[in-house]
Amino acid sequence: MTKVDVLLGLQWGDEGKGKVVDVLTPGYDIVARFQGGPNAGHTLEFDNKKFVLRSIPSGIFQKGQINIIGNGVVLDPILFQEEAEALEAAGIPLKKILKISKKAHLILPTHRLLDAANEKQKGSGKIGTTGKGIGPTYTDKISRNGLRLGDTLHNFKEKYGVARDRHVAMLKSMGEEPEFSELENKWLSAIDHLKSYDIIDSEYEINKALGEDKRVLCEGAQGTLLDVDFGSYPFVTSSNTICSGACSGLGVAPNKIGEVYGIFKAYCTRVGSGPFPTELFDETGKRIRDLGHEYGAVTGRERRCGWIDLVALKYAIMINGVTQLIMMKSDVLDDFDEIKACVGYEIDGVKTDRFPFDVTTEKIEPIYVTMPGWKTDMTKISSEEELPAKFVDYVDFLEKELQTPITILSVGPDRQQTIVRKSFHR
Ligand code: GDP
Ligand code: IMO
Ligand code: MG
Repeated sequence: MTKVDVLLGLQWGDEGKGKVVDVLTPGYDIVARFQGGPNAGHTLEFDNKKFVLRSIPSGIFQKGQINIIGNGVVLDPILFQEEAEALEAAGIPLKKILKISKKAHLILPTHRLLDAANEKQKGSGKIGTTGKGIGPTYTDKISRNGLRLGDTLHNFKEKYGVARDRHVAMLKSMGEEPEFSELENKWLSAIDHLKSYDIIDSEYEINKALGEDKRVLCEGAQGTLLDVDFGSYPFVTSSNTICSGACSGLGVAPNKIGEVYGIFKAYCTRVGSGPFPTELFDETGKRIRDLGHEYGAVTGRERRCGWIDLVALKYAIMINGVTQLIMMKSDVLDDFDEIKACVGYEIDGVKTDRFPFDVTTEKIEPIYVTMPGWKTDMTKISSEEELPAKFVDYVDFLEKELQTPITILSVGPDRQQTIVRKSFHR
């Protein structure tokens, strides 16, 4: 029996998961998303084309793989239809290669309204969500009020009516006057579109595939610091973005997890509110944002930028059991004279190398080490041997600090701009 490999973000999302899933897909038979929903925006670039995927796994552009949307994902039928139709129009035979779990929860039109109303109530303490109804949908799942894709197969209108009326009462109690009949009609017709896909018991499909020695890659969304348990709570998303999320979000037993690929950027970004110890408010932060095109793939919001945070990365590696690291966007730092890395925090004059419980409330002073930049354009480099010596020193430094091998280096957004090192293994 083979094991499943898991690829997930180690920071606050947008690490480049979509790109790397696409690069690794030829080595797999199945690619499966295990959590999150259309709050995700996974960008892929190849052959001068660019795609941003929201709910659909990033393994659809290679040849022959089956892609699965697992039970842990929350689906918005309207956004799914838009995404799917655009891909079909681009020639992707989605109906043949995409399967969706019956147990995936549905995002209702009223979930989006509740998301907005919750944010409004929080005022200046708002999370800065993507507004896609993610929190309210997972809330309903956990409070056992949710609707699942499989529910669309029998008596759906009735079940939908109960859920909608409950939401309307909640919205009214929050002082809202919800009006969503147009959205609702669109949503109901999008449900029919969704039902034209292969709706399956994905836990059986995946475990059967493993029994047949097929190879499965699980694709995470968001990142570890947005995990509902271990992230910078409450400024997090509402799912388990960590490795264990692949077990509960796909029905894969923990002893079936193989490689855990942890992705991080050579620096750090975050969208939305919440703590960010190494955030830069100066010219350097702006320079990273400009060079890295750090604007949200979903909302177009400016991403906050800062230096790499090794305290947070070590924490993420520990929580996920990362076996290999993948460093993205190294090229963004190509022209910097100096590169900084945060190796510790100082809180109230006390040094720590732990990611603290009160990361949201404490004033954290990052402790940095500074290294010389490599001052070389790496975007055309295709092999390990060509890498500039100072960059190799930086990678060696990170590997030593993080006690985990960095086996893939990304030097540009395109599929081709990827250096798979000799240490990489599946
Ligand atoms: P994801 O959500 O983790 O899949 O990441 P996003 O797609 O939201 O954000 C990553 C952005 O960086 C996208 O615009 C990618 O095209 C781009 N990107 C990925 N890898 C690299 C890289 O190595 N260098 C540069 N310059 N851009 C990259
Ligand atoms: P990918 O998969 C970056 C952030 C939002 C907000 C918080 C909660 O592309 O890496 P939510 O809508 O989930 O309730 O918002 O989480 N967030 C992301 N940030 N990348 C993402 O996904 C994100 N998905 C959610 O900005 O701060
Ligand atoms: Mg993204």
